[in-house]
Amino acid sequence: MTNILLTGGAGYIGSHTYVALVAAGYRPIILDDYSNSHPGVLARLEEITGKPVLHVRGSVADVGLVSALVDEHKVQAVIHFAGFKAVGESVAEPLKYFDNNITGMLRLMQAMDQANCRALVFSSSATVYGDPASVPITEAFPLRHTSPYGYSKIVCEEMIAAMLAAKPAWRAGVLRYFNPVGAHPSGLIGESPQGVPNNLMPYVAQVATGKRAQLNIWGADYPTPDGTGVRDYIHVMDLAEGHVAALDALLKTESSFTVNLGTGQGHSVLEVVRAFSLACGHAVPYEICARRPGDIAQCYADPALAQRLLGWRAQRTLADMCVDTWRWQSRNPEGYS
Ligand code: WQD
Repeated sequence: MTNILLTGGAGYIGSHTYVALVAAGYRPIILDDYSNSHPGVLARLEEITGKPVLHVRGSVADVGLVSALVDEHKVQAVIHFAGFKAVGESVAEPLKYFDNNITGMLRLMQAMDQANCRALVFSSSATVYGDPASVPITEAFPLRHTSPYGYSKIVCEEMIAAMLAAKPAWRAGVLRYFNPVGAHPSGLIGESPQGVPNNLMPYVAQVATGKRAQLNIWGADYPTPDGTGVRDYIHVMDLAEGHVAALDALLKTESSFTVNLGTGQGHSVLEVVRAFSLACGHAVPYEICARRPGDIAQCYADPALAQRLLGWRAQRTLADMCVDTWRWQSRNPEGYS
């Protein structure tokens, strides 16, 4: 059995990847401090997989704990999800982001090297591209940060690159997520943001259940087909399967790579609202408001490299994303209890 450590594995992407890993025959172990996730997800994961969940409460920055876990479970690779990811919050609290995201990565790599585990999959983000000069975006595009959050992701990618250059025994798969949305089709796990959602899909879902009065659409004067922002929304189960494909490649070929995980198709805010209205069976009230500072007009991936290197391509549609989100949100209006 191939044991894989998931840092931040109780989170939104981590928990869905956990399910995909078990289905692929891996044995994932969750390490989470629950600073941005909920232990209630663990029982749901047992229900979905039909197997007990191996989980440890703790920080990725605890070098002693991580190296002991790697030793005890003979961990073959680590998937590093643990990190904060709210752009606006990172502007208000940059040191919190540098500490959690950058120091966390440093301590993790120190622990892995101590324990002779040198295969790493890293959860990066399309935010590293900043405001691209054109779309679709390939991995060769320049990196430019537009927030402390984006900066922390670029620094982590550069730390990995330095490690790969210094220690050939290391190998890494850097995955640049576009906009993860959706939920596992069982309706048992999904996105459960703390407080007011920053992101579009969870906010729309909370409007659809009546928890929020209306959606504020941040700007309808962008140079896009209908004036609202265009993004590459990718179903979280496609993203989870992308992690399995990356892990397979890393363990079988011992090569390193950096790939976009997106669908290659952009959808506007109004398209998402229309698709969600069809999924939930009623209108989603909204109001056009001023642009949100820092937002860009368009961002969507060229997914060709991931398909070529990993044999992976997103399969699920925007309708699937909305139907699965609605099932999760309507059955769990307060998230995990
Ligand atoms: C999508 C579109 C908004 C909310 C961010 C991070 C990125 C990644 C995903 C971590 C935009 C519009 C949104 C709302 C709206 N996170 N919108 N009303 O900003 O593309 O990406 O989250 O990796 O790194 O930058 O996602 O969902 O916030 O916005 O009109 O209440 O929806 O203007 O056009 P974004 P988002």
